[in-house]
Amino acid sequence: MRLDGHLMPEEPSQPGKTWVQGTTTEGASDSRAVARAVREMFTSIAPRYDLLNHVLSANVDKLWWRQTARSFERALSRPGVKVLDLCCGTGDMAFAVMRQSPAARLMGVDFSHAMLRLASAKSRTRSLYALVSWVEADALQLPFADRSFDLVTSAFGFRNLADYDAGLREIRRVLRPGGECGILEFSQPAGLLGWLYHLYFRHVLPKIGTMLSGVPGAYAYLPSSVARFPSASEMLARMRTSGFSKVAWRPYTGGIAGLFRGER
Ligand SMILES: C[S@@+](CC[C@H](N)C(=O)[O-])C[C@H]1O[C@@H](n2cnc3c(N)ncnc32)[C@H](O)[C@@H]1O
Repeated sequence: MRLDGHLMPEEPSQPGKTWVQGTTTEGASDSRAVARAVREMFTSIAPRYDLLNHVLSANVDKLWWRQTARSFERALSRPGVKVLDLCCGTGDMAFAVMRQSPAARLMGVDFSHAMLRLASAKSRTRSLYALVSWVEADALQLPFADRSFDLVTSAFGFRNLADYDAGLREIRRVLRPGGECGILEFSQPAGLLGWLYHLYFRHVLPKIGTMLSGVPGAYAYLPSSVARFPSASEMLARMRTSGFSKVAWRPYTGGIAGLFRGER
């Protein structure tokens, strides 16, 4: 299957996948409760988040952040380019953008205070302190004026929103006309890789995650939220409906992850 010029051999048919509003968590009755549970979960794993990320992904995550930043080379080469990294966590996507474009004016947004403290500490040790502003806010209610940014990135954060369409509308609102967005997310590859990935993601990763983080449940949420996330074709359709043009999805590492992009 081809989507907007990008080959998508890895996208499975995902039979039985139904339309969802956003992520969900056990026992949460509405989107506010979901958001609260998601924030508490990320706050609880924050101290071990980086370690777990690198262990569980065998450091491939670093490659994906770099690849994403590189794919916006043209936008990032503009002097004074304004970039928002949404759901920035401990800041690694933002740092990859900074490396690609040291003159960018960059903001990292997350609603977990614990994650932002770690991001801020990391930027200090990397001498990037003056270059990135860390803002505690909800991605669904951004404290920025319309048309504020040239580029909005989000790595592995968008999937956790309680309302995907509201998230897309909010990203579009803060982009200037012609501005671009890049959403990096996990995907579900097909074939043998998909089978191995399923085995690892469902049965191995939650055990290692629980052991290293000491937080039961947090790493069971990861595979279930990925399984619930819209297929690439549905996500692209949602992006179009939210007013994005030139939408496309590019698989990374055999479709384990992939980058959605679109233009306002
Ligand atoms: C899996 S982490 C990704 C962090 C980072 N972008 C990375 O690539 O490592 C997801 C982050 O999204 C944040 N997040 C989830 N929902 C959010 C929301 N509605 N508003 C702001 N941040 C949110 C969480 O607090 C968490 O730090």
